[in-house]
Amino acid sequence: MSTYTDRLLKIVIMSDIHLLPKGEVKRGLDTAPRFKAAIETVNTLHNDADLCIFAGDLTEKSDVAAYALFDEIRAGNDLPQRVMLGNHDDRNIYLKHAKNPMLDENRFVAGYDDIKGHRILMLDSSEPGKLRGGLCEKRLSWTADRLAEAKALGLKVIIVLHHNPCALQMPVDTYRLADPEKLLKVLHDSGADIIQVLAGHCHITSAGSWGGYPCATISGNQHRVEPFLRGRTGQQDCYTSPAQYAVIMSDQVNCAVHFQNYVDDSAVMDPTLFPNKIDQKFEVLD
Ligand SMILES: [Fe+2]
Ligand SMILES: [Fe+2]
Repeated sequence: MSTYTDRLLKIVIMSDIHLLPKGEVKRGLDTAPRFKAAIETVNTLHNDADLCIFAGDLTEKSDVAAYALFDEIRAGNDLPQRVMLGNHDDRNIYLKHAKNPMLDENRFVAGYDDIKGHRILMLDSSEPGKLRGGLCEKRLSWTADRLAEAKALGLKVIIVLHHNPCALQMPVDTYRLADPEKLLKVLHDSGADIIQVLAGHCHITSAGSWGGYPCATISGNQHRVEPFLRGRTGQQDCYTSPAQYAVIMSDQVNCAVHFQNYVDDSAVMDPTLFPNKIDQKFEVLD
């Protein structure tokens, strides 16, 4: 008989890696060693995950050399991996370079994995040359078909896409997912059991809901922005850390989204101050 842990879905989702060709650095923040650090923490902390997803903005300016560096660094992890695109990626350049890309029948970089009672649905919201991504009729129709299958199979659905669909009441909303109501209608009409939506793009950690669906964003591998909310003027501050990825764990009832920081300027406190934090027990669930 399988154990609770065997039935527990665990997926790692990284986004906004923004790699440049080797040796190039933007704004003093070298994304390559940060991405290496991300892969190393997955190796040490999360190598029991079922899947590792790279949710777009793999490169800063879609250079072939940067895609090669992306492949070189991610080869340091053995988990099953899925690669998605963002607004900084050019689908044509990526597909020319990619060895075994995830593709739907219309050659969009979209796909799904069915794991432990869940369908992980990965959408391609990239529009080459445009900051504001979107989903055309073909992609919406493909999404509707995959959701219908998930419903028929009784799968819980986790949707991953690059562009945040939910308005964060920040300037980034001017280039979030275009026409989000179209995707929302597809989701509502499907009747599928959608338990989480996760996006990158906005370079900030957030959680909330979108049209009734739990929706979170992660800050990614490049700079992190401050919450610069509607009504503010002046400069929005950007920070060197945390660089972070999401770890989703779901047993089909409890779905937790964790934000794993792998570059973090906070100091670790003296562990002897927390003797109760050594060899802790986890809740026993069946
Ligand atoms: Fe980005
Ligand atoms: Fe983006």
